[in-house]
Amino acid sequence: MTMLIKGGTVISATGATATEVLVDGEEVVALLSPDSDLAVSAAESAEIIDATGKYVLPGGVDAHTHMELPFGGTYASDTFESGTKAAAWGGTTTIVDFAVQSHGRQVRECLDEWMAKAEGNCAIDFAFHMIIGDVNDASLKEMDILVDEGITSFKLFMAYPGVFYSDDGQILRAMQTAAGNGGLIMMHAENGIAIDVLAEQAVARGETDPLYHGIVRRAEFESEATHRAIKLAKVGAAPLYIVHLSASEALTEVTRARNDGANVFAETCPQYLYLNLEDHLGAPGFAGAGYVCSTPLRSKHEHHHADLWKGLRTNDLSVVSTDHCPFCMKEQKELGTEDFRAIPNGIGGVEHRMDLIYQGVVQGEISLPRWVELCATTPARMFGLYPKKGVIQPGSDADIVLYDPAARWSISVDNHHMNMDYSAYEGLEIEGKVDTVISRGRVVLADGEFSGNAGDGRYVRRGLTQYLM
Ligand code: URP
Ligand code: ZN
Ligand code: ZN
Repeated sequence: MTMLIKGGTVISATGATATEVLVDGEEVVALLSPDSDLAVSAAESAEIIDATGKYVLPGGVDAHTHMELPFGGTYASDTFESGTKAAAWGGTTTIVDFAVQSHGRQVRECLDEWMAKAEGNCAIDFAFHMIIGDVNDASLKEMDILVDEGITSFKLFMAYPGVFYSDDGQILRAMQTAAGNGGLIMMHAENGIAIDVLAEQAVARGETDPLYHGIVRRAEFESEATHRAIKLAKVGAAPLYIVHLSASEALTEVTRARNDGANVFAETCPQYLYLNLEDHLGAPGFAGAGYVCSTPLRSKHEHHHADLWKGLRTNDLSVVSTDHCPFCMKEQKELGTEDFRAIPNGIGGVEHRMDLIYQGVVQGEISLPRWVELCATTPARMFGLYPKKGVIQPGSDADIVLYDPAARWSISVDNHHMNMDYSAYEGLEIEGKVDTVISRGRVVLADGEFSGNAGDGRYVRRGLTQYLM
């Protein structure tokens, strides 16, 4: 059975055109001029999807999620099933989640565990990065094998000493390995050793509220680590991708490296564009715990939001991911009522990325094609998923979103589909809405009804990054 998406405006990373999209089975097979002979004859035998007044986009690619992540004695509250369904509600049709090698364990057995959690449970397609939590001779060898198996990017942490932390020597060795096998090193760039000193001193002074999570994780610690990671990558001759960048000072480091011609890339996340230290982390009572994430939200009295939007325009920030890592307030964030250090780190947002970044189009921060580029095309290219994902063209997977620019609504815990008992964006008014979602040729969301199933999503083996300068 073929499907013809008619009447809409197809938005790609390079422009917007009135085009009809013909889908056969799981793939896009043609882009047709409206009312052309080919379009008229295709319409005779196809199921018609009416996209009049809608934008037609490639499905979103969220390259940074943490379903079921173990953290601080608990687990991220979205399972692969609940989290991928929520993603689809929000117009994301592929996630790249992080499998975790924990300290003292083999990469392979940890990856197998993650695969077992995800396989058969995802409603949309999924892939993995690997967190290398224990860089040693064995795990470095396993990185080579993983690249051959389609896991082509590796996250390292300069933060969380004693948990995920790698020292500079380990980082350099992993970068040298990536330089040899074509992998991409993704860096959590914060100086965790220095942060822990300030955190201990703050708690000793009785500064235990969630706000202090943001105060001790100073922007200098993010920019210093970003700078160090860039220099290590230069020596290691490896490309580098900085995850969840939040501070202007860190962006300056990335911009400088890119101006020098280095293969340094960075993502930011919606929380760093919309939320801030004072109003959210500093919310009355314990409400700020809902905003504890790392890197932290930054001060509204500085220029972070404006600088990050600028970085999204200039491509010094190339990708918007969510770093979706949800925890409920009850029994999870509450672990840290006495001490902010015990609050599990993370914010859920996999459902709202497309909408939140579209507000940048509404507000004149970015163009429509740039929205698609940041949320679908570049993440697909960056992480070796293109051109199956991130683009609507013959041969690509029919992962397609119809977006209604005329819709108006507000984000709320009462209407989201993530497994979270609060929303970090409660009450935020949104222009535009995901109307219809097609995942590999199958309509999974239409008319406000979700018809996707756990298990519909397939594991995707990724190629090497296609984004090097
Ligand atoms: O706070 C965050 N970001 N939690 C998830 C783990 C990570 O560092 O990405
Ligand atoms: Zn991180
Ligand atoms: Zn993360």
